[in-house]
Amino acid sequence: MLTLVSQFVISGADLGAAFLFMFGLKRMSSPATAPSGIRLAGLGMVAAVLASFLYLLTIDAAARPHMMVNVGLAVTALLIGGVGAWLVGRKVAMTAMPQMVAIYNGMGGGAAGSIAAVELFGGHTHGATQLIVTLLGGLIGAVSLSGSVIAWAKLDGVLKKPLRVKGQQFANAAVMVATLAVAGVIVASALGVGGLWLTAPTWIWIFFGCALVFGVLMTLPIGGADMPVVISIYNAFTGLAVGLEGFVLQNPALMIAGMVVGAAGLLLTVIMAKAMNRSIANVLFTNFGTEAKAKPGAIKGSERPTEASDAAIKMRYASSVIIIPGYGLAAAHAQQKLYEFVKLLLAAKVSVKFAIHPVAGRMPGQMDVLLAEAGVPYDMIFQLDDINDDFAATDVALVIGANDVVNPAARTDKSSPIFGMPILNADRARQIYVIKRGQGKGYSGIVNALFYSPNCNMVYGDAQAVLVKMIEAVRGLGAAAA
Ligand code: TAP
Repeated sequence: MLTLVSQFVISGADLGAAFLFMFGLKRMSSPATAPSGIRLAGLGMVAAVLASFLYLLTIDAAARPHMMVNVGLAVTALLIGGVGAWLVGRKVAMTAMPQMVAIYNGMGGGAAGSIAAVELFGGHTHGATQLIVTLLGGLIGAVSLSGSVIAWAKLDGVLKKPLRVKGQQFANAAVMVATLAVAGVIVASALGVGGLWLTAPTWIWIFFGCALVFGVLMTLPIGGADMPVVISIYNAFTGLAVGLEGFVLQNPALMIAGMVVGAAGLLLTVIMAKAMNRSIANVLFTNFGTEAKAKPGAIKGSERPTEASDAAIKMRYASSVIIIPGYGLAAAHAQQKLYEFVKLLLAAKVSVKFAIHPVAGRMPGQMDVLLAEAGVPYDMIFQLDDINDDFAATDVALVIGANDVVNPAARTDKSSPIFGMPILNADRARQIYVIKRGQGKGYSGIVNALFYSPNCNMVYGDAQAVLVKMIEAVRGLGAAAA
């Protein structure tokens, strides 16, 4: 009776968890509903964990003789992981988010790989299908683990340069073929075809070793700046690995959560690659940006600097301003000051909108999150397609720490590495102000023709320091009037 009731509760909790994951993910699609989406998905995770504990406690030992039950160890692991993640999550800087996502993603891959290892070393798989699915999940999970660790090291600056050697892609292919061959030996021996030469556990060690090496080799040659796309690919891998291991364990919550994460990661990868006008193969196999140079003689003239106070006063007396935030806004932690400045403009009856490019910053949604953190109302924030036509009728475009996402070369220069990438039409506004520290290039490493156009002025300085001066200038006007 107890078993029947617990089975009913476990299935209900699994189903509820799966529903909460999907509903939570749906709500994450808009900044307004994202916080509740994250809470719902978290609630789903709690339900799935509780269901797993109930399963452990009420498990019929005779039905699953190989199942090791060590609730103390499981609770300890849960506490270490939960408390560690909570502490790190509270402290992490917005610019360090990609690193955090990389390392959490690697842990997901590692967890899937570990499930596969337990099943394989314990000889718990039944039949060829289950064995192949376990191996596939183990392979993808292990690649995702070691690849994500390299991605983290690159994003964190531990590994500074892409490591490329001649014949690298050949070596990568050779390691992958070796991994698949070892998997083939494991399956063949389980089916009683052919001998093992080595003991079964040795082959399993070699299999995981090759998979981990492949993840490292595949990620090392990719430039640090491409890591967000790579993490997104590994995110899809992790989801797939978790889903496959969910199938092996016959756990519906794992299966559904894995597939949801896998599909979301894949879609995100495609969206990011499309917004950068690059193919996924281009991200994985070429060295983007590091060798990019401006075409000699392509850009004429010089940049025209102006004072922060002059730019601020011009905006105060404008009727419309569109603000384009970019990576530099996050690097300067200037979102609060920006909104303080915007509130002064709004008080002076200036129409202010924010224009967000899909790949502004260094990770998807980074600008939306920054602005939400500062308290900017969602109805002031517009995505590229919804605002691009407005620039032509706008007095001032204020570009803050953005570069590539407003580079007109993407429209006209076929030799540019960003040719074809959709950009925000800042150049079509009557006046453009650009806040940046100096002549630094953007992520793509190319010069921006916008900065040299006659209707553009540069306000040099750290975004936060410049905004402080702008706020003072507009406040000063009010004080002078009073
Ligand atoms: P970027 O093109 O990278 O330009 C950022 C600019 O900010 C730099 O030119 C830099 O110039 C300036 N800056 C840096 N620190 C600053 C500070 N403290 N104060 C003021 N300015 C500062 O940024 P973007 O326009 O946001 O474009 C994003 C790029 O990243 C795109 O090429 C995109 O393809 C790529 N990317 C994005 C993603 C995602 S998902 N968002 C993923 C991978 C790659 P100074 O050094 O002169 O200050």
